[in-house]
Amino acid sequence: MKKLLLLIVSVLLFVETIQAEHIRLSTKGSTLLITATHGKSPRFRYFGARLNDVDNPFDAGIAFNEALYPEFGAQCAREMAIQATHPDGNQSLELVVESVERRSGNGAHITAIHTKDKHYPFYVTVFYKTYDDCEVIETWTEMRHTEKRPVTLYRFASAFLPIRRGTDNWISHFHGSWGAEGYLEEEPLIGGMKVIRNKDGVRNTQTDNPSFMYSLDGKPQELSGRVIGGTLAWGGNYRIAFANDNSNLTRIFVGINEEQSHYILEPKEVFTTPVFAFTYSNEGKSGVSRNIHRWARLHRLNHGTALRPILLNSWEGVYFKVNQEVMDQMMRDFADLGGELFVMDDGWFGDKYPRNNGKTSLGDWMVCKEKLPKGIEGLIGSAKSHGIKFGIWIEPEMTNTKSELFEKYPDWVIQQPYREMKTGRGGTQLVLDLSNPAVQEFVFKVVDNLMTKHPEIAYIKWDDNMTLVNYGSTYLPAEKQSHLYIEYHRGMDKVLRRIHEKYPNLIMQSCASGGGRVNYGVLPYYDEFWTSDNTDALQRVYMQWSISNFYPSNAMAAHVSAHKNHQSKRITPLKFRFDVAMMGRLGMELQPKDMSEKDKTFARQAIATYKQIRPVVQQGDLYRIMSPFEKTGYASLMYVTPEKERAVFFVYKMEHFVRQRCPIFRMAGLDPQKRYKLTELNVSGKAIRQSGKIFTGEYLMNSGLDIELNTEYASRVLSVEAVE
Ligand code: DGJ
Repeated sequence: MKKLLLLIVSVLLFVETIQAEHIRLSTKGSTLLITATHGKSPRFRYFGARLNDVDNPFDAGIAFNEALYPEFGAQCAREMAIQATHPDGNQSLELVVESVERRSGNGAHITAIHTKDKHYPFYVTVFYKTYDDCEVIETWTEMRHTEKRPVTLYRFASAFLPIRRGTDNWISHFHGSWGAEGYLEEEPLIGGMKVIRNKDGVRNTQTDNPSFMYSLDGKPQELSGRVIGGTLAWGGNYRIAFANDNSNLTRIFVGINEEQSHYILEPKEVFTTPVFAFTYSNEGKSGVSRNIHRWARLHRLNHGTALRPILLNSWEGVYFKVNQEVMDQMMRDFADLGGELFVMDDGWFGDKYPRNNGKTSLGDWMVCKEKLPKGIEGLIGSAKSHGIKFGIWIEPEMTNTKSELFEKYPDWVIQQPYREMKTGRGGTQLVLDLSNPAVQEFVFKVVDNLMTKHPEIAYIKWDDNMTLVNYGSTYLPAEKQSHLYIEYHRGMDKVLRRIHEKYPNLIMQSCASGGGRVNYGVLPYYDEFWTSDNTDALQRVYMQWSISNFYPSNAMAAHVSAHKNHQSKRITPLKFRFDVAMMGRLGMELQPKDMSEKDKTFARQAIATYKQIRPVVQQGDLYRIMSPFEKTGYASLMYVTPEKERAVFFVYKMEHFVRQRCPIFRMAGLDPQKRYKLTELNVSGKAIRQSGKIFTGEYLMNSGLDIELNTEYASRVLSVEAVE
C-alpha cells in the first residue's frame, strides 16, 4: 500500500513537472514566464505586461531565453547570480530542473523551481510568490548541499531579473546621506554596468535605498509609461547591478553584497537569501509605487493597515535635556493641541554615567534618577493624566566605551584583534556584535525589561547611529569571520521576531541617524521609519517625494519642527510645515511651549484636520503629479481612496520669483464620472476661490485648476469629496 502511494505521488510529481514546462506566474497586470523542463537548465522567458491566454509570446518572438538563475559554470564570461566552490576546488555549477512545486493558501501562491547540479549533490531552489490581492511578486532563493565538506558561496543573489529593453531605458534610484536621504536620481541606462550598493553594515540606506525603478519608455513619468520597480527586503549590505551588453536585455542582479561576505555552507545547512519584491505597471512610477504600497500595507509592514497616532518627539525640542518636569510640560502642551502620543527621545538613561551627550551610556538602559526621580512610571503617569500615550527612545545595538556595559563585556563589541578600535559618535560609540547569541539576548532584554516593567509603553523609537566598523567578531570562528555582515542581520532578525511575537501591539519606529534604515528587511517589525533628521519642510518635500516611491505614507514619519529650522536654518510658515508633514505620518518635533498662541491655534486646527483626512492620507492610493525634481517651482501629489470617494490634494511652491509663471494644476486618480466638492484645508488667511466649489472628476483631471500660490513657501491642501 505504502509503495503504491509512493508511486502515485512520484507519478503526480512527474506529471506536475511535465505540465509545468511553461510556467506562467500572473498578477492582474503582469506575467512572469519560466520554462522548467526536467533535467534541463531552467529558463527565464519574459516579465512584463500580463499575457493573455490566446496570444503566444514564443510565436511573437518576445520570449527570450535566459538562465533562470545564472550560475558560474561553463559560461564563465557571463554575469552570475550564484558562484559556489566545491570542496574539491571546482568553482562551477550546472543547475538543471529536478521538479516544480506549486502551493497555494490564504490568497498567496508559491512556485518553487527545484534544481540540482548535474554532478554534485548541490541544490538550488528559486521561489516566486504571488498574491491575489496585490501586484507584487516576491522571489528568493535557497541553497543547500550534501557534499562531504563545506561549499563556499561567493555569489548568492536573491534574484536575477532580465528585462527586454524598450527604446529608451532609464533607471531611477534614491541616493543620499545624512540630512539628504533618498534623493531621486534618474539616468538613462547605457552600455556597461551600473551598480548601486551599500557597505555600511548596519544602516543600509545611508547611501542608496535598496530599490529601483526601470522605465522602458524614455524619461520616467509619474502617471504614464511602462515601469518595473523592485526593492530588496534586507537590512544589511546589498548590491543591485544592471548589466547592459550589446543584447536586447538588461540583466539585473539583486541581493546581499557579497564583498567580504563569502559564505561557508555546511553540508545540509540551508542558506536562504532575502526576498526581492518587484512589480510592473503601465501607469508610470506612481503606478509602481501604488503596487508596492499596497503590498507593503497588506503583507510586509508591521500593522500595515492600522492608522498611526499623531506624536510629539522630544528630540529637537530639548535634545538631551530631558527631565520629569519638562517631559510633563511637553505632554500637557501637546495633549492640548490634540496630540495622541508623546515620545521621549535620547537622554533619559545612564546611572553611573548619565547620558548628557552622545559620548556615554549606551547599553546602560536604566533610568537616570537625577533627571527622572519618578522613573518611567512617573512619565507614564503624566501621559495618562494628559490623556495621551507614551513612547521611548532606545539604541540597543550600540554601546559607548564610557558605559557600564562596555566595562563589563568588552568582548561584546565588533572588533579586530591587534587593532586600535575606530569609534563613532562622540568618539566613543561602538557596535555590539549581534552574531553573538548572548548579545542577541541582551538586546531582546532591553525591550523586554522595559515592556515587562511598563506594559503601558505604546511606542519604541529604535535608533542606530553608527556604521559597522572594526569588522571582526569574537564570537564567530576564524573560518567564518566573513559571515559577520550576514550574521549581524540574522541576529537582529531573531531579536526583532521575538519582540514582535511577545509584544504584537507595540508600535516601533526604525531610525538610524535619521533615515538610514528604510528597508523592507526590517519593516515587518517596524510600523514606520524616521525619514530624516532634516526636518526642513522645503527639503522634506524632495525627500518625502523620493521615499514615497517605495514606502507608503503611513510608514513615513514627517514632523513639524521649529523655525528657524535646526538643520537648514530656513524660516518657513507654520502652515507650510504642517502641509508638508501632513503628506506622511504627521508628528511634531519641537518644544510646544515656545510656540506663539497664534501658532498653537493653527496647530490645534491642523491636528484636528489631519484626524479627518488620516484614513485617506495613510491608506489611500498615491498619485504623484508634479515632481519637485522637475524644477518647475512647484510640486503636487494626492491620495485617493480605492473607491474614489475621497481624496486629498497637496501643492507646494518650491521657489518664489516675481511674475513667476504658475501652471494649471491637474488632479489624477479620480473617477471622471463623479462630481467632487473641493474644500481648502489648513486655511491661513483667505481660502482659495475653488474652495466650496464642485467639479467633475473629468474636469479636475483634464482641465485643472489655477491655484493661487503667490507668496514664498505657499502651499495648499484640498479635500476632494464625491457628492451626489
Ligand atoms: C539620531 C536620530 O535620528 C534623532 O532623531 C535622535 O533620536 C538622535 N539620534 C538621538 O541621539
